[in-house]
Amino acid sequence: MAIYQIIEVGDKILRTKAKEVTNFNDSIHRLLKNMADTMYDADGVGLAAPQIGVSKRVIVVDTGEGLLELINPVIEFAEGEEEDQEGCLSVPGKQGIVKRAYKVKVLALDRNGDNIVVEGEGLLARALQHEIDHLDGVLFIDKLIVKV
Ligand code: CO
Repeated sequence: MAIYQIIEVGDKILRTKAKEVTNFNDSIHRLLKNMADTMYDADGVGLAAPQIGVSKRVIVVDTGEGLLELINPVIEFAEGEEEDQEGCLSVPGKQGIVKRAYKVKVLALDRNGDNIVVEGEGLLARALQHEIDHLDGVLFIDKLIVKV
């Protein structure tokens, strides 16, 4: 088990577009494990690799329905709108209201490089959009409509 220090806003890596993963080897499997350990330790519902200092397109999400590991995730389809409160482990102490799609369909690769599809609504859809934003250097504070 390896728990990483979560990188906070102000660090350039959080504003850098992360690179696609092309090798599905032990180092990616270790990264996924370290990200999950770090997310659970911090009581988060999602974590993106740049938040532990790795500029790769990898996210983990668990909104209470089990761990999702997504590599090179892309939102293929989004529908609806919902405004809800959000925070981020990289922006401690801040929360605010962000408008997101209510429902998304995400295409990604699993830890072995096989195609997977994840569909989610509500909190899961929100977490997926938030974490995928991290891979493009976007933080929820860029999208606030109301500060709480
Ligand atoms: Co975040």
